[in-house]
Amino acid sequence: MKRLIIATLVLFGLSVGMSQAGSVYPEIPKATGEAHPEGNDYWRINHMDLLRHDRDLTVQDGVRDTDASLSDCVTCHAVNSPDAKPVTVKSEEHFCRVCHDYAAVKVDCFQCHNSIPPELGEASLMFKDETETLDVLLAYIEGLSQ
Ligand code: HEC
Ligand code: HEC
Ligand code: HEC
Repeated sequence: MKRLIIATLVLFGLSVGMSQAGSVYPEIPKATGEAHPEGNDYWRINHMDLLRHDRDLTVQDGVRDTDASLSDCVTCHAVNSPDAKPVTVKSEEHFCRVCHDYAAVKVDCFQCHNSIPPELGEASLMFKDETETLDVLLAYIEGLSQ
């Protein structure tokens, strides 16, 4: 229910934002590549469910249907800094942070996942050390099931 309320507020904010120049609603950075066939509204409301980890580390059916992966998200939705390099999630201009900061949502995904296109090789926990990754992962999954 809370999700629906927040999502509705975000959608409402967006339509108000578009009709009023100078609104405080965040300006969502433009993406590259094909738009989602399901449309922007659908993705604004449902992306968190499409991305969710399952207990056994597969992801929910939704994500298989839409064939989405986090590295794909940050590739099409990369936001370049003035030096033409994609900003990481440390920057408040990062695609995932623009709305999240606005809605006071915090995600921990980028502790493990790259927040920039993978070919750029940002050092991420996932690729550093297998044993360490496994430990963090198990702790994470344990946390999810509590
Ligand atoms: C159009 C705005 C918008 C963009 C862009 C956006 N999000 Fe979100 N996201 C939200 C809102 C609003 C919520 C909170 C909904 C709620 O609380 O139920 C949310 C929640 C989430 C959640 C669930 C958090 C939780 O604690 O339940 C995850 C995971 C998530 N987003 C991942 C991402 C990722 C990854 C990206 C970038 C690839 C991204 N989001 C980009 C608006 C956005
Ligand atoms: C093939 C490129 C591509 C991929 C991969 C991709 N997107 Fe998108 N996405 C777009 C385009 C294009 C739009 C249309 C809006 C725009 O022009 O920025 C969009 C729109 C969105 C919106 C709505 C933005 C708004 O303005 O309301 C959200 C939220 C979103 N994507 C989240 C994600 C998430 C999360 C992932 C990963 C699971 C993802 N996208 C993967 C290209 C992509
Ligand atoms: C403790 C480390 C860790 C954290 C935190 C984490 N993940 Fe993952 N995630 C993994 C691993 C490991 C895989 C499986 C390896 C792979 O597919 O690259 C994975 C796979 C995925 C996949 C499917 C594969 C892909 O390419 O994207 C998605 C989607 C995903 N995670 C989303 C998220 C989201 C959303 C969050 C935050 C709410 C998150 N993850 C947090 C470690 C993590």
